[in-house]
Amino acid sequence: MDRALIRRDFPILGQKINGKPLVYLDSAASSQKPQRVLDALQRYYSESNANVHRGVHTLGSRATDAYEGARAKVASFIHSGSDSQIIFTRGTTESLNMVAQGYLRPRLGPGDEIVISEMEHHSNLIPWQQAAKVTGATLRYIPLQPDGTIRLADVEAVVTDRTRLVAMTQVSNVLGTINPIKEVAAIAHRHGAVIVVDGAQSVPHMPVDVQDLDCDFLAFSGHKMLGPTGIGVLYGKRAALEAMEPVQFGGEMIDTVELFESTWKEIPYKFEGGTPIIAGAVGLGAAIDYLREYGMDNVHGIDRDLTRYAMERLAAIEDVVIYGPTGERGGLVTFNVGSVHPHDVATVLDSEGIAIRAGHHCAQPLMRWLGVGSTARASFYLYNTEDDVDALASALVRTKEFFGHAIR
Ligand SMILES: Cc1ncc(COP(=O)(O)O)c(C=O)c1O
Repeated sequence: MDRALIRRDFPILGQKINGKPLVYLDSAASSQKPQRVLDALQRYYSESNANVHRGVHTLGSRATDAYEGARAKVASFIHSGSDSQIIFTRGTTESLNMVAQGYLRPRLGPGDEIVISEMEHHSNLIPWQQAAKVTGATLRYIPLQPDGTIRLADVEAVVTDRTRLVAMTQVSNVLGTINPIKEVAAIAHRHGAVIVVDGAQSVPHMPVDVQDLDCDFLAFSGHKMLGPTGIGVLYGKRAALEAMEPVQFGGEMIDTVELFESTWKEIPYKFEGGTPIIAGAVGLGAAIDYLREYGMDNVHGIDRDLTRYAMERLAAIEDVVIYGPTGERGGLVTFNVGSVHPHDVATVLDSEGIAIRAGHHCAQPLMRWLGVGSTARASFYLYNTEDDVDALASALVRTKEFFGHAIR
């Protein structure tokens, strides 16, 4: 894969920031978009735009074909059994909330348990915390090992016959840990619980096969995988989706409406009330086409190589502390530079054109577990190169010198 060619597909990467060539290392927060996706959005609005599923006119059919075509692309990308098991949402957060409200809450009561891990993003924590609060159920946590991994023995110990649902991220947005979802799913199922997978950091970066994982639900966001903002996905097993209640009511999702009663359409439409995110879905479809052209194994390989290289380069800088496992991990490195506040690190880096993220990364319980208030994070995607990592490492050395008085 020629990374110079790939970079040329992303017009935003060609610019200078603060007089320096942009080095974008914040794809875990949101990825950049290739020209192909921008063109697909432009083409959709200039050639096909209309509302879907209702019009008998030509543009209505074109828009419907484009929207449903995108659903088929998503289904095939994650190896879903059928297109009808793909629900378009606004993103991972909305997908997880839909499961918490539409699937879990009606089935949950006092004495029931929900199990999650200590590394979850707030989006895969608060919906379950709220469900437990409202129903009197108990939220239980799978503890982390010192290197930020989980042990299956701990999963076995926490998941019991009282567990109704296990929710876990496939790749941690802070530690980079890759969780053994298939094995956790088997444990959950043995106890009659369903498993919900937060795929926000995995689906964009590695091959994900929902049938192989045997997960009941999978949530992810288009904007982290080269697609537009405002589009996301909830995949569910057919029986789970059929049993799940809609949480948004209105046009498009109904079958019949009487004065005091209504019935819903079949899946996935009963979950897509109102005018759906048509252009967003079309853009996501174009992003999937792009990723498939390179192959998800190759995308994962680039992440792996860059992460390994970045860990080596950063570990060689005195006073830089790296968090998370040292072995196989997702395409990001979370770190701190001595006692320099991560926001200061990110600000100095920005002055050199380097974009990284600083803060609690929507994982406050995990920050407490790490014993820090916040961290810096560099994250990679297929358009990054070893030169980007070198730029980061050199800038961190200069940052250290700049804040020299604050170290130790
Ligand atoms: C692991 C993880 N889960 C959930 C989310 C939430 O995604 P979104 O903001 O697109 O809903 C993120 C985003 O950073 C994430 O990294």
